[in-house]
Amino acid sequence: MSDVKTMGVIGAGQMGGGISQIAAVASMDVVVYDAHQAALDKCKATHQKLLARAVEKGKMAQGDCDAALKRIKYTANWNDLAGVDWAVEAVVENADVKAEIFAKLATTLTKPDAVLATNTSSISITQIAAAADKAKSGIASRVVGMHFFFPVPVMKLVEIIKGLQTDDAIVARTSALAERMGKTPLTANDRAGFVSNRVLMPMINEGFYALMEGVAEPEAIDGIMTLGCNFPMGPLRLADFIGLDTCAHIMDVLAEGLNSERYRPCPLIRQLVAAGRLGNKTGRGVFDYTQK
Ligand code: CAA
Repeated sequence: MSDVKTMGVIGAGQMGGGISQIAAVASMDVVVYDAHQAALDKCKATHQKLLARAVEKGKMAQGDCDAALKRIKYTANWNDLAGVDWAVEAVVENADVKAEIFAKLATTLTKPDAVLATNTSSISITQIAAAADKAKSGIASRVVGMHFFFPVPVMKLVEIIKGLQTDDAIVARTSALAERMGKTPLTANDRAGFVSNRVLMPMINEGFYALMEGVAEPEAIDGIMTLGCNFPMGPLRLADFIGLDTCAHIMDVLAEGLNSERYRPCPLIRQLVAAGRLGNKTGRGVFDYTQK
């Protein structure tokens, strides 16, 4: 059983919001940091809404909902993270931004055994750990990948990634923490895209090639994969759900990290991104969400 008392979550977006919610429900005190007050406000409102809905559905007692919400501190003050036992970074998927955050965390966290986890979906853990280690020598052994899936409260998996220098004991503690948060941990080594996106993204990319080449209409491509393979969403709708910009970015990381052009995003994905059709978050991707 994990003994983590306080978790710091860096980034109050969709992923950080979900991670902080399930940490609070698992009885941890949570510090959610974001530089933008608007993101913190939105995160808090989402927590209130989702936990209230869980109470309405009879999945949670009102007292537990109130206690979980009380355990979360929303802050734009970086130094509030100093005393946490465990930090999970969930900011934009950009290697330079993550390197900067990990260097800062390395010198901010005061507990000698504090763990620095990243929710990256494809960026090298070893590379992120190296940035932390430059700021504080030896800390790379406490940097680990903790990859959650969207929507975090619903998806059962946490993909745990062991960087080149991650201590085995830290991997074991990460698994215990994921279990405490109601998830199933599965471990992968540090290769671009780990397992999840190395397998998922080529499938999504092929869905776009099939669309671009006129193999079938979008509804048929998705219907064939949902009905024929029992996926909850077809590749095109799932790409809209993840964000086409995020998919394109992960595919580029795969192409560079695995040194193969076959992982590059289909031209149609690039075109939709250039048009600002990023998926659900902009109201339109392959499909139109503005009417729903
Ligand atoms: N936040 C919290 N809960 C949510 C939610 C959200 N954004 N969206 C749906 N839910 C909850 C609903 O409240 C509902 O809960 P109850 O069972 O308690 O009632 C449950 O999920 C099912 O929702 P719905 O009945 O509305 O809809 P559904 O049955 O169609 O399920 C879905 C929706 C769970 C999103 C399902 O379509 C699904 O599993 N899709 C695939 C999602 C997926 O593959 N995610 C991984 C993306 S890849 C990734 O995240 C990592 C990466 O690196 C890119």
